[in-house]
Amino acid sequence: MKRFSKDFLWGGATAANQIEGAFDVDGKGLSSQDLVAYKDPYAGDVVDNFTFNVSSTELDEYLTNPEKYKFPKRWGIDFYNNYEEDIRLFAEMGFRVFRLSIAWTRIFPTGLEDTPNEKGLEFYDKVFDELAKYNIEPLVTMSHFEMPITLTQKYNGWMSREPIPLFVKYAETLFERYKHKVKYWITFNEMNMNLNSPYTGGGVLADTVKNTTEAAFQASHHQFVASSLAMKKGREINPDFEIGCMINRIETYAMTSKPADQLLALKADQLNMFYPDVHVRGEYPRYMQRYFKENDIVIQKEIGDDEIIAAHTADFVAFSYYMTHTTSSDHANASEAAGAFDSPIKNPHLELTEWDWPIDPVGLRITFNKLYDRYNKPLFLVENGLGALDTLNEDGTVNDSYRIDYIEKHIEQMYEAIEDGVEIMGYTTWGCIDLISCGTSQMTKRYGFIYVDQDDEGNGTLKRYKKDSFHWYKEVIETDGANILNKE
Ligand code: BG6
Repeated sequence: MKRFSKDFLWGGATAANQIEGAFDVDGKGLSSQDLVAYKDPYAGDVVDNFTFNVSSTELDEYLTNPEKYKFPKRWGIDFYNNYEEDIRLFAEMGFRVFRLSIAWTRIFPTGLEDTPNEKGLEFYDKVFDELAKYNIEPLVTMSHFEMPITLTQKYNGWMSREPIPLFVKYAETLFERYKHKVKYWITFNEMNMNLNSPYTGGGVLADTVKNTTEAAFQASHHQFVASSLAMKKGREINPDFEIGCMINRIETYAMTSKPADQLLALKADQLNMFYPDVHVRGEYPRYMQRYFKENDIVIQKEIGDDEIIAAHTADFVAFSYYMTHTTSSDHANASEAAGAFDSPIKNPHLELTEWDWPIDPVGLRITFNKLYDRYNKPLFLVENGLGALDTLNEDGTVNDSYRIDYIEKHIEQMYEAIEDGVEIMGYTTWGCIDLISCGTSQMTKRYGFIYVDQDDEGNGTLKRYKKDSFHWYKEVIETDGANILNKE
């Protein structure tokens, strides 16, 4: 009988700014994600698939005239007030782990305070205690694409070194407070998404910098130093912590066996793996020297930075996996597109989601193998799932067989990867409960096993409904995957 091991961590994943709401409650400050305004694709607004930028003029406008805009990440799905019911539903599915992030702005509203906001700390105490009631391990991301907006206004976010000690103070506060409640930590969500848009993870206003790619790497450098210093603190506070790094893993295929295509694919892959390369191996890889030179990138480092990065590396490699890319030397923009969220070329062998994301379960097995061969560290698949339009039936059911099909195929490949010898800690599907999309701020791009009654404009009862996938995932966990792995 094929099955996953009993200690495999099954669960789901979320981020504070996509679920909590209550953006100005109990002392919380404004975060960079609270300033991302909704653009309506149905009313003709241009909505990027993933990259969202906030320019300096937009930021001023959003701060001055907020009533003119909608900011869905400010309302989320009201997890702040509904966490007990939501966690009860996760427990009903049998979750062993729940990935969530902490909003920096609940703990340090502007990032600059000397003492943390007790009300913010209490909220996460309550969440962790609720999880503990059901034996669900928290997996905590400290910075999921957000930071206090004050740090963007004052320093242009991570472009500056100033946030480094502020982040370390924040991390230390979390480690001290939750040292008996949380074992698994991730410092930064998908740090490589800085390359997609330096505002997303770095809080950098792209229109204020000369070279956005350079800015992305500069911001990343400061985050690497901050991340390593946080790891150092964490290990001093509790040596049993497991502190990982994370990327949005995008496996890139060559379109043909032409050597030039293969080379492009290799280069795209290096750019993606640059992030865990630094985080795990503790140094900037030599292949980046040429890339930096060719792209006029000069990273400002201070004496001691390299030593810090070398001394404090990641315990495990967490990653999200949604798609693969394809590249070809015949395509004019293929090399410039490396690092972007969209594939430069469509892979004719893959179907697309309703949001045009290529679906590639076998690519997941390839990626697991590649990451494990390279790092020899435990891997944690902390995001994977299908964003789709769902229909709530009159009887309160949602028939999402397409989601079951998608996740099932990825789980099968994850099992194959384990058979290949890869060490996998667990699997948390993205948006286990419907939430606000990161890339488009839509509510109707749904990932959950739990349907939340709310539309893109924020109207709805917020009532929760179990989708078909809810019952299916419960059985997956109950049988350690045997129900899908042993199907006739
Ligand atoms: C990941 C992010 O890159 O993709 C999540 O970490 C995000 O925050 C997820 O929600 C899916 O993207 P989207 O745009 O469909 O929400």
